[in-house]
Amino acid sequence: MSRRLAAVVPAAGRGERLGAAVPKAMHLLAGEPLLVHAVRALQAAPSVAAVVVAAPPSQQQEVCALLGPRVCVVPGGATRQESVARSLAVLASEVDAVLVHDAARPLTPPSLIESVASAVLGGERAVVPGLPIPDTVKQVDAAGRVVGTVDRAGLRAIQTPQGFERALLQRAHAGARSELTDDAGLVEQLGQSVLVVPGDDAAFKVTRPGDLARAEAFLDRFKLGPDGCWRPREAGGHG
Ligand code: C5P
Repeated sequence: MSRRLAAVVPAAGRGERLGAAVPKAMHLLAGEPLLVHAVRALQAAPSVAAVVVAAPPSQQQEVCALLGPRVCVVPGGATRQESVARSLAVLASEVDAVLVHDAARPLTPPSLIESVASAVLGGERAVVPGLPIPDTVKQVDAAGRVVGTVDRAGLRAIQTPQGFERALLQRAHAGARSELTDDAGLVEQLGQSVLVVPGDDAAFKVTRPGDLARAEAFLDRFKLGPDGCWRPREAGGHG
């Protein structure tokens, strides 16, 4: 049975940690909003058949014009979770697999999107990309004193896109008991096991001002290859 996969993009965050007046997804990177970079990567992944974006409500028309008629734009909610739920609500009935991808991860390579998509299309019900943690991780108390050291070997820093069987993800959102920072967490609350596939350093989330500079520097040094992976540019820069 062939399956149809859609991507939903929560992009309605205010981005307070970036410290600017515009919503985070509308910050410019190489002259284009972060959201445009993220949607372009999704559209470059062959398995993604449709894209729905949850935009800042005040910028819905602007986002529609920016992304063109192939992308469905809905008003985002007060939380990331609500923005995702609103996007799921407008998916076409034939969609049976969903990727959820943060607009704030503009350099996510199409190869990573395809790797998550193919795991879901291959029958995995919940898939997330994850990276080993390079730092030592410690548990602290309210006073900032170390309580213990966590064994980092068993930890992963989780990125997006996260991929799900559609019915499972909608059930997880409908039964959400709390506000979580990712969708896999909701699915875990249902007792569903979640597969972690290798993440990609380039899929980092733009959160603080330094992250934008990091993304600009990355684009100076790398360009997308025909295989959807980042490749070093030839000496001489852009082109
Ligand atoms: O704030 P954070 O970086 O965790 O946000 C992750 C993603 O969720 C961002 O792409 C942001 O635009 C989106 N978001 C949203 N609606 C909200 C808050 C965040 O779509 N109310």
